[in-house]
Amino acid sequence: MKKFKTLLASALIIAMAAGCSSSAPTTGGDTGSTDAKTYNVGVAIYQFDDNFMTLYRNEIESYFKTLETDEVKYNVTIVDGKNDMAEQQNQIDNFITQGMDVIILNLVQTSSADATIDKVVAAGIPLVLINREPLGENGDESYKGILDNPTVCYVGADARQSGTFQGEIIAELPDHGDLNGDGKISYIMIEGDPENIDAQYRTEFSIKALTDAGLTVECLDDQVGNWAQAKGEEITSNALSQHGDAIEVVFCNNDAMALGAAAAIKAKGRTVGKDIYLVGVDALDECQEMVKNGEMTGTVLNDHIGQSHTAVDVAVKALNGEKLDNYYWVDYVKVTK
Ligand code: BGC
Repeated sequence: MKKFKTLLASALIIAMAAGCSSSAPTTGGDTGSTDAKTYNVGVAIYQFDDNFMTLYRNEIESYFKTLETDEVKYNVTIVDGKNDMAEQQNQIDNFITQGMDVIILNLVQTSSADATIDKVVAAGIPLVLINREPLGENGDESYKGILDNPTVCYVGADARQSGTFQGEIIAELPDHGDLNGDGKISYIMIEGDPENIDAQYRTEFSIKALTDAGLTVECLDDQVGNWAQAKGEEITSNALSQHGDAIEVVFCNNDAMALGAAAAIKAKGRTVGKDIYLVGVDALDECQEMVKNGEMTGTVLNDHIGQSHTAVDVAVKALNGEKLDNYYWVDYVKVTK
């Protein structure tokens, strides 16, 4: 499938004449080198208080540093949208006023993609969208605002793949997730922000992987935890109180919520791998440890290094006036013991 391919350098066609040129960079700057060009880079993150996006933004910053030379410097400004679209629109307006040479944007709401793309394009600034994919009308990767604008692209991972991997992790267990042997997998689902395609696809495709494998499923509860650890804990705790031993699998759309779920599972005296299964997505360091020592059944690597490096590489190509592809995909990786 096209989206599952990691399309990095190989997909980038160098075409200097294409319409991705940025505004003129600052010469000199505070770099200590009088001959250095300094490019101003604006990075808008939907919310700093997000485990995964914290790793991602830190990596953007440090990777830009590694690309600096005596001749080229990157002045990177990273702002916190505080999960508030109005706040993020102000930040984008400020980036435009400040004359950023390129903008990397993790939208608070993908429903505002068009309005944001329009103003950044009108200002002549290349735009690299990350992590939250605006969806095309037919539900695939063909988003008009990206297809129509050669200076706008999206860097991300296909959430269908992560959902499928979660389901497969359960389907591949010796009992296929049916701990009590009643012929069905009884699960609860803890979802991220429902507007986010990652949440929608992970919810859908994790279960589809089970039914595609010919297994029977039963949903005992499906709640929105908004990607947050505390919500993951609260939802799991309530569900365990209500359904008790009937819950065989806890699916979490991300690892932050799985960390919360793991705490609730422990507090209720249940044991992952013995009387319940737990899967997340992201492969945060602490969750990789938990998979190793059995406290989580599995997770899926959401490659923040591959994604942030691709986003930065693409931004640099835009700064150099090179032609951009519409989409750059980075693969997920299944993580089990
Ligand atoms: C990650 C989540 C994160 C979300 C932010 C997802 O891809 O898996 O952990 O909260 O992105 O948009």
